[in-house]
Amino acid sequence: MRVTVIGGSGRTGKLIVEQLIAAKHQVVATIRNPRHMAEMVKLGAETQLVDLDKSEFDTIVTAMKGTDAVVFAAGSATGEGSALDRTGTLRTVRAAEKAGVKRYVSVSSIGASTGLSTRSMSDEMKDYYKQKRAAAKHITGSTLDWTIVEPAELTDDKPAGKVTASLDKIDEKAISRADVAAAVVAVLGDKRAIGKAIQLAGGTTALKMALDHALGK
Ligand SMILES: NC(=O)c1ccc[n+]([C@@H]2O[C@H](COP(=O)([O-])OP(=O)(O)OC[C@H]3O[C@@H](n4cnc5c(N)ncnc54)[C@H](OP(=O)(O)O)[C@@H]3O)[C@@H](O)[C@H]2O)c1
Repeated sequence: MRVTVIGGSGRTGKLIVEQLIAAKHQVVATIRNPRHMAEMVKLGAETQLVDLDKSEFDTIVTAMKGTDAVVFAAGSATGEGSALDRTGTLRTVRAAEKAGVKRYVSVSSIGASTGLSTRSMSDEMKDYYKQKRAAAKHITGSTLDWTIVEPAELTDDKPAGKVTASLDKIDEKAISRADVAAAVVAVLGDKRAIGKAIQLAGGTTALKMALDHALGK
């Protein structure tokens, strides 16, 4: 498969790029800052400069043209505001539709689709969930073959290879970015995942078995 990874130089994005290349896929990694280019090329990825706030729409379309799938792994940094999570999703959904790329996998956040209460959260987190939920509406209302992966708090730990995955609400146990990347790569070519939002957290079940359990054999 040839895959465009939006936010390829992010902490999760880079692991997705690495794991896709290890699995013999071709990767177009979009980066916002040219200083990440050498690192992406070293991993074996092609690069396209895309700033989701500033780039022309056609630049985003070009980054997707001729690929089989898009992975959205970008996200706002602390202090940046969360608008990017919604507007970046909307622009990439529309660009995938225009580029004729059907498969779209997005990394969102645990509970965004299961009605997690944000009442006791900080204003920043409330807005983050508001943007993630609005983003989900853009995805689920699109013509794309979408999957949304909703992980719990992310760590930079080594992959455990064991997770909890479900279409229903699960406990919010932190999970490594490496395990999230493995789940994204696993669902990308899995037809059972189309049209589903998958909750993902640290757990005790081997990743493949956990996904089989969540998605049905
Ligand atoms: N942090 C958590 O605990 C947590 C928990 C659950 C879900 N998530 C979600 O998981 C995803 C990945 O998180 P992460 O912590 O691995 O991400 P990260 O390391 O913060 O990386 C985010 C990426 O998005 C890019 N980006 C930000 N604004 C952009 C823009 N305007 N245009 C283009 N690219 C832009 C960044 O580019 P630069 O390198 O140029 O800044 C970076 O590559 C995010 O969607 C996040 O919301 C996070």
